[in-house]
Amino acid sequence: MDSQFIALVATLVVSVHGCRKTELPPISHTMFPEGFIFGAATAAYQVEGGWNADGKGPNIWDNITHERPSFVANNNNGDVAADSYHRYKEDVQLLENIGFQMYRFSVSWARILPNGRINNVNKAGIDYYMNLIDELLAKGIQPMVTIYHWDLPQDLENIGGWTNPEIVTIFEDFADLVFRTYGDKVKWWITINEPYMVTKGYGADSFAPAAYLDLHGIVEYQVGRNLLLAHAKAYRLYQKKYSQQKGKLSMAFTGIFSIPKTDSQEDIAAAERTYQLTFGWFSHPVFVGDYPQEMKNRIEQLSRQEGRNTSRLPPFTQDEIDEIRGSADFYGLNHYSTVFVAEGTDQSSSDPKPSAMSDIGVTTSVDPRWPTGASVWLKVVPQGIRLNVKKICEEYCNPDIIITENGYDDDGSKFTDDPERIYYLETYYAELRQTIYTDGCNLKGHISWSLLDIFEWRDGYTKRFGLVHVDYNNSNRTRTMKKSAYWLKNYIEMHKIYYK
Ligand SMILES: *[C@@H]1O[C@H](CO)[C@@H](O)[C@H](O)[C@H]1NC(C)=O
Ligand SMILES: *[C@@H]1O[C@H](CO)[C@@H](O)[C@H](O)[C@H]1NC(C)=O
Ligand SMILES: *[C@@H]1O[C@H](CO)[C@@H](O)[C@H](O)[C@H]1NC(C)=O
Ligand SMILES: *[C@@H]1O[C@H](CO)[C@@H](O)[C@H](O)[C@H]1NC(C)=O
Repeated sequence: MDSQFIALVATLVVSVHGCRKTELPPISHTMFPEGFIFGAATAAYQVEGGWNADGKGPNIWDNITHERPSFVANNNNGDVAADSYHRYKEDVQLLENIGFQMYRFSVSWARILPNGRINNVNKAGIDYYMNLIDELLAKGIQPMVTIYHWDLPQDLENIGGWTNPEIVTIFEDFADLVFRTYGDKVKWWITINEPYMVTKGYGADSFAPAAYLDLHGIVEYQVGRNLLLAHAKAYRLYQKKYSQQKGKLSMAFTGIFSIPKTDSQEDIAAAERTYQLTFGWFSHPVFVGDYPQEMKNRIEQLSRQEGRNTSRLPPFTQDEIDEIRGSADFYGLNHYSTVFVAEGTDQSSSDPKPSAMSDIGVTTSVDPRWPTGASVWLKVVPQGIRLNVKKICEEYCNPDIIITENGYDDDGSKFTDDPERIYYLETYYAELRQTIYTDGCNLKGHISWSLLDIFEWRDGYTKRFGLVHVDYNNSNRTRTMKKSAYWLKNYIEMHKIYYK
């Protein structure tokens, strides 16, 4: 059986760009190495419901979905969502049934701190997450806790949200409370989910709070700066006060992952610039120090051309650079899809004012042969995830990497019949194994997005990322495993049997 499953090759030691050496594990064409972690993820606003239950305060998603119902498809909102606030035991039971070893979920800031500040703690909110964590641990499932997954308390938005530098210490206080309360039980932390996407709620209306719309080109960079500083403050605080808890911290990074449309020098440069001005915007300060040089140069140059005498990208002080550099114990990667990019200007926007997006200076396209999810942006491009992981190990000296989100959406019309999702997982897993066995990257785990069909932001319940179907027409929010969940159950089980 051994020889059928695993083709042993001479153990190689590879070194990526002179960084930490990695021992290549024996190649398996079907399985990940021993100890590889399989997990599933959700986020508070997308699953919990209980939007005003037991003292929870309103957040920016409660506010925008109530204030402007048409902001979301079908006027959907997260008032009840999958009702995980009341049904979390069903969720944990599903995790156990499928065989997951980790559950990544987020804490709702306004459930714990109704006004966002630590002078008003909501005991019921504290208890909810304690119960969830205890339920997970009782079944041997490791919690990975996201401290901020896009649901800012409305009271904090009222002082400017992530544009206000005060948010940095307010977030630090919140993180302190969360570490102090749950840290003896939680060993995996994501401070902030997808800081790149958080900037798209400011100067753009892609996400709540959809504020400061006329300030795009400037406000995204202020927000990005505060997100990085808030993350670093939380990380340093953990090192100082909670290092005996021995947890591992990171952000969940994302951006636009692209491949050059042609092999012209211009398009190759365009793809690199797309990486640096999206992923690199956040991960370069954390893993190398400061913004990528190319990002600084380009925004400074564009700012000068616009007749400004300072760059729209506000610089960090040396102290800030030092505080942010090294503030991660692994690289959390959220990856779904890939696009082609070419040098050029996107003509679709009539707005002459710059934005973080137009600053990149590329046009994007896709290969019409790529299969697609229910979301038009979600093209199935398995080779892209391998290139992205490889880029991380080359760019940031081979850090430990965990795929903190990855998944496929359907439109729910086929209930639990989802061969497309199985295809997606199979092909992406195959590429991920290559990053380990061939490229020598330190990929340690994969967390599926998502455990359940959940509130998909502006798409409401029309886009379903779940391995498990949720019936939104039934007040019990009945959960039914899709075929992909059974496929994954067998896949994880195979690893458990083999490595026992
Ligand atoms: C949204 O927040 C604003 C500012 O606090 C408030 O005036 C408004 O009443 C809120 N809307 C809803 C529906 O809660
Ligand atoms: C540029 O800087 C000078 C000196 O600080 C200032 O007086 C001027 O208003 C600035 N111009 C712009 C366009 O900001
Ligand atoms: C609820 O049921 C209706 C009618 O069967 C269907 O059209 C709709 O898509 C369902 N909604 C959800 C969220 O499942
Ligand atoms: C919800 O579940 C309860 C308890 O199992 C059951 O009695 C009830 O009929 C269910 N409601 C619906 C609408 O299916």
